[in-house]
Amino acid sequence: MSFKRVAILISGGGSNMVSLVQSMTGDHPARPCLVLSNQADAGGLAKAEAAGVPTAVVDHRPYGQDRAAFEAELIKPILESQADIVSLAGFMLVLTDGFVSQFQGRMLNIHPSLLPKYTGLNTHARALAAGDAEHGCTVHEVTAVLDDGPILGQAFVDVDPGDTAATLASKVLVQEHKLYPQVLRRYAAGDRKPIELR
Ligand code: GAR
Repeated sequence: MSFKRVAILISGGGSNMVSLVQSMTGDHPARPCLVLSNQADAGGLAKAEAAGVPTAVVDHRPYGQDRAAFEAELIKPILESQADIVSLAGFMLVLTDGFVSQFQGRMLNIHPSLLPKYTGLNTHARALAAGDAEHGCTVHEVTAVLDDGPILGQAFVDVDPGDTAATLASKVLVQEHKLYPQVLRRYAAGDRKPIELR
């Protein structure tokens, strides 16, 4: 059996990356080939190494506003890893059209809101401020528009009285760790029909 190769891009703790890596065993159609971070101190790097996944770091800071120069470096380890699929998992930089178009139809992202609601940052606080009864997370294909692109799956949580942005974030993260592996598994097998977890 030939596996799809998955490069996972992170910026921080990498809990979603760990859930993806742990899921890619047995009859799963994909295997992790790279964990790549724009932050040298991302906690997820050690976790990837412990799991035996090759890691790389491309620090964005030396490039300042020159996104093209940064992305020209960022793409190198991904191409070297011969990734078939690129999974953004808590990767906190916006990628430009030039980068995204090279992985059109094979790049995924997880976002902590029920898209199209709350693109960008502070999603949990915004859901609370809006008085939403439901909140959650979305896995979608990445296009040149931020937090846009075809939705591949959503997982829901109830917003309870007394929830804060922090409690909501933890509840949503539990769902992220279920949703992303399920979507990736289907996606790697060629199934793009959206799923819903409640
Ligand atoms: C996750 O909640 C993910 O959805 C979010 O960052 C967190 C990363 O946690 N991503 C975004 O906000 C992207 N716009 P992790 O590093 O533990 O997976």
